[in-house]
Amino acid sequence: MTVNSCRYHITTFGCQMNKADSERMAGILEKMGFEWVEHPDDASLILYNTCTIRDNAEQKVYSYLGRQAKRKQEQPDLILVVAGCVAQQEGERLLLRVPELDLVMGPQHTNRLEDLLEQVFSGSQVVATEPVHIMEDITKPRRDSEITAWVNVIYGCNERCTYCVVPNVRGVEQSRTPESIRAEMEELGRQGYKEVTLLGQNIDAYGRDLPGVTEDGRHRHTLTDLLYFVHDVPGIERIRFATSHPRYFTERLIRACAELPKVCEHFHIPFQSGDNEVLKAMARGYTHEKYRRIVHTIREYMPDAAISADAIVGFPGETEEQFENTLKLVEDVAFDQLNTAAYSPRPGTPAALWENQVSEDVKSDRLQRLNHLVATKAAERSLRYLNRVEEILVEDQNPKDSTQVMGRTRSNRLTFFPGKIAELKGKLVNVKITEARAFSLTGALEQ
Ligand code: SAH
Ligand code: SF4
Ligand code: F3S
Repeated sequence: MTVNSCRYHITTFGCQMNKADSERMAGILEKMGFEWVEHPDDASLILYNTCTIRDNAEQKVYSYLGRQAKRKQEQPDLILVVAGCVAQQEGERLLLRVPELDLVMGPQHTNRLEDLLEQVFSGSQVVATEPVHIMEDITKPRRDSEITAWVNVIYGCNERCTYCVVPNVRGVEQSRTPESIRAEMEELGRQGYKEVTLLGQNIDAYGRDLPGVTEDGRHRHTLTDLLYFVHDVPGIERIRFATSHPRYFTERLIRACAELPKVCEHFHIPFQSGDNEVLKAMARGYTHEKYRRIVHTIREYMPDAAISADAIVGFPGETEEQFENTLKLVEDVAFDQLNTAAYSPRPGTPAALWENQVSEDVKSDRLQRLNHLVATKAAERSLRYLNRVEEILVEDQNPKDSTQVMGRTRSNRLTFFPGKIAELKGKLVNVKITEARAFSLTGALEQ
């Protein structure tokens, strides 16, 4: 078949890692001669980059796939690819469930997409889910934004949180070298990108698997060292990183963030539960007291820093009182943003097999109560921006109002203000905040 005439579509589910992987796969497809189309029905190759963090994420994939599998029965040359975490979790079983699939590939095989498709073009149905050493990516990703970019620094996760599928589907930790991370950032700087988010499921583990220790016995390459190593990349004005793990978060890292002007004052540090017994059952490796100390230290160094997190309600065995400890932590810390979820039992994880599961009714009641508190607290936190002048990096037009542009504060609050995107895109501007909502702001350009 000639790929020149081919059009592709990618739908991405899940987290920032998947978004970053999709951009790399899109880059590979375009190098092969494929052209992007917005609607899957117009595509001759459809790739679903999937997520299995909770059951509803997984089920969504099957419903999308079902539709396209039907289409393939009428259009046999349609190529269907399932990549990402459901692909890794299900492997060959996916072919039994959806025999129309051409390629099932786990996240570690992202950079091998071209090879794998060659096998498909020569007539095979391919499953690539064996663990591999992730090769450095030499193709150029097709990035969604021209201003902000993801840069992977560590793949995989070696933690064993008892609820979580990520280690099963993303494999063991593999850090990229500081040199290759810096080289990617320098290239981004040359292309006009202004902001980079360094990515890892547990970014505090960065460098543990790289060789070298310092005289005092530390790993030579920690996240803190990496920030010092990349912070002066020309053109890049802002650096963010995610996701932080409270177990490994250090004061040295906090100090570096306070010291390095390009590193933004925003920390995403999931706490999962505010109760020590639940944290222990989750195997998270810290107490709520330790978590509070981290927040306190961050605010000592950077009083205005924004803090966001993830939390789970209804973990097996969670009592009303234990849940209230989560509410209490949220009340006390006052997060700028919190992603909340009801616990979902996942295949291959220990907690899924425990007998003390919490009923769906109780979970959804707790989720509602927590969400209500989160919105109230976020709205309170937002008020501090009123009448202040904030530095905004302009990313795009406001999709709902073409007279406005949008961007983010250093603390990651989405901000809208009147202006022309052609003049402002990619610029750092000062904006006086005139309206504050729970999760976004409105303002006007300071002349
Ligand atoms: N590596 C990050 C988060 C990875 S997954 C960390 O350690 O925090 C993103 C979020 O999904 C988690 O923070 C958790 O809140 C949620 N999550 C993970 N597994 C879940 C499950 N089985 N049920 C409900 N939420 C889950
Ligand atoms: Fe999952 Fe825990 Fe690893 Fe985060 S640190 S990805 S929650 S196992
Ligand atoms: Fe989902 Fe995989 Fe990310 S399970 S949250 S896409 S690592």
